[in-house]
Amino acid sequence: MWSKCSRGCSTSSRLIFQIGNSASLATSPEIAGEPTGPCIKTSVPGPKTKQLLCELSKLQQAGSTEIFINYDKSIGNYLVDADENTYLDTYTQIATMPLGYNHPELLQVFRNEHDLKCLVNRPALGVYPGEDWPQRMNHIADAIAPYGLRHLNTMMCGACSNENAFKHAFMAYRRKVRGDDNFTEEEKQSCVLNKPPGSPNLAIMSFLHGFHGRTIGTLSTTRSKYIQKIDIPAFDWPMANFPQYLYPLEEHEECNRVEDYRCLASVEELFEKWCKKGIPVAGVIVEPIQSEGGDNHASPTFFRKLQAICKRNNAALIMDEVQTGGGPTGKFWCHEYFDMESPPDIVTFSKKLQLGGYFFSDDMMVNQPFRTFNTWMGDPGKVILLEKIIDIIVRDQLLQNVRLTGDYLLKQLQCMEKEFSPIIHSTRGRGTFIAITAETPEKRDEMIKRLKSKGVICGGAHPQTLRLRPTLLFSKNHADIFLDKLNEVLKDIKKA
Ligand SMILES: Cc1ncc(COP(=O)(O)O)c(C=O)c1O
Repeated sequence: MWSKCSRGCSTSSRLIFQIGNSASLATSPEIAGEPTGPCIKTSVPGPKTKQLLCELSKLQQAGSTEIFINYDKSIGNYLVDADENTYLDTYTQIATMPLGYNHPELLQVFRNEHDLKCLVNRPALGVYPGEDWPQRMNHIADAIAPYGLRHLNTMMCGACSNENAFKHAFMAYRRKVRGDDNFTEEEKQSCVLNKPPGSPNLAIMSFLHGFHGRTIGTLSTTRSKYIQKIDIPAFDWPMANFPQYLYPLEEHEECNRVEDYRCLASVEELFEKWCKKGIPVAGVIVEPIQSEGGDNHASPTFFRKLQAICKRNNAALIMDEVQTGGGPTGKFWCHEYFDMESPPDIVTFSKKLQLGGYFFSDDMMVNQPFRTFNTWMGDPGKVILLEKIIDIIVRDQLLQNVRLTGDYLLKQLQCMEKEFSPIIHSTRGRGTFIAITAETPEKRDEMIKRLKSKGVICGGAHPQTLRLRPTLLFSKNHADIFLDKLNEVLKDIKKA
C-alpha cells in the first residue's frame, strides 16, 4: 500500500500518495469564476482600506493589518480587497489556504444538516465528542497520518500543538527515567509548588531562526524576531545552529556538507552541556524547512543524523510541520523527503489542515487522562472541512499539480536570478514552497510593495527573503502572472 524507500521504510502518507504519482497532469485544476489576472483600480492601499484601518486602530494595535478583504468576492487564487482591487494571492493568509477562496465544494459542506449541527453545537471534544468522532478521526488518520504515527490529537492552533507536543516529550522522558507512570507522593506534592522532582528541570532544544509559536512555552523555542519575545520570561533551553546553505546547491556541495556537520556538532555539544547543567534535553523541535526564519533548508542527511543524535540521547524528535504540512512542498508531509530510519516521534500541524494537532508514536502515548487536555481540543467544524479538502486533494491530484507548478516556477526563477543578480539570489524550494533572497532587507520590502501595487501578494521572511505560499491549485498560468510581475518589478528596481 505504501511506497518503499531505499531504506525499506515507507515514505508516503496513505491515500494521498497512492494517487497523484502519475508523470503528468492531464489538465491544470480549474476554479470556476476565477479572474484571469489581477486588476488594480485604486492606489494601494485604497481610500476605503485607509478608512477601515483608521477605525480599527482606535480599537486595537492594528499595525500588522495590511489589507481588508471582501470575502464574498474573493475566489480561488485571487482575493478582492475593500477597494475592489483584485490580487493574485501567493501568500494565502499566511500559508493556510489549500484550496483558495470560496472553493465551491467547501461552500457546500455545511448544507448537510448533520454537519451544520456539528458546527453549531461545538463540543468539548475531550469529554463529549460526537458519536461519529472516532470514525472521523480514523478517516483523517487513514488518509494522511505520517508513516508510523497512528495516534492523533487535535488542537486549536500551531503554537498549542507544539506546546502539547513538548508535554508529551517531557512525560515520555520522565516515564523512561522512572520506569513507569506511578508518581511518588513527593512528585505529586512538589509539582503543585513548581518544584522538582514533580516539576523536573527538562529542556526542549530548538534552532537559531526557528519559529514554533508565541505561547509562553513555544516562545522559548522560537528564535526569530525580537519583537515576538521581548519582555517575556523564557526557559533556560538550548539553541543549536541550523544550516545556512550557499546556492545553487550543486555548486556548493562540499561547503554545505561542512555546514551540516557544524550544526550537528552544536546539537551534540548542547545535549552534553545541558545534561551537565542538570537540565537534560527531553525533546528537539525542528521545522523541515525553517519558514519564518527565512526559508532555510537542510539536507536529508542533516535530518537523519539529527534523528540519530536524538535517539542516542533518549530525546523525542518533534517535526514542526505547521507550515510545511498539507502538501505545499509536493508531498503531504515535508519530512517524507528525508528518507529517515524511522518516523519522527511527533509531527505537529495546523495552517493548511485548518485546525491544529499532532500525530505521535506509541512511545509518546500518555497513560492518564487530562494530561494533555483543554476545553475544545480542536473543532469538528474544521475537521469536516479537512475531510473534504483531503478528498479534493486526492481526486484532483493536487500534490502532482504542486510538484509540476513548483518545478516550473523554480526553473524560471533560477533563470531570472541570473538576469537580476545580485538583486535576487539563492532561489530554493520544494513544490511551490519557494523563496528567493533579496540583496538587502530594504530591496525585499520594495519588491513586496511594488508587487502588491501591481496586484500580487507575496510574503516576506527573516531577514531578506521573499517567499511564496500559494494554494495547492496554483498552476502554470498563475505562476506566469507572478513571474511577469516580478520581472517588471526587478527591471524597475534595477533602473532606480
Ligand atoms: C513552523 C511554525 N510553527 C508554529 C507556528 C505557530 O502557529 P500558530 O500561529 O497557528 O500558533 C507557525 C506559524 O507561523 C509556524 O510557521
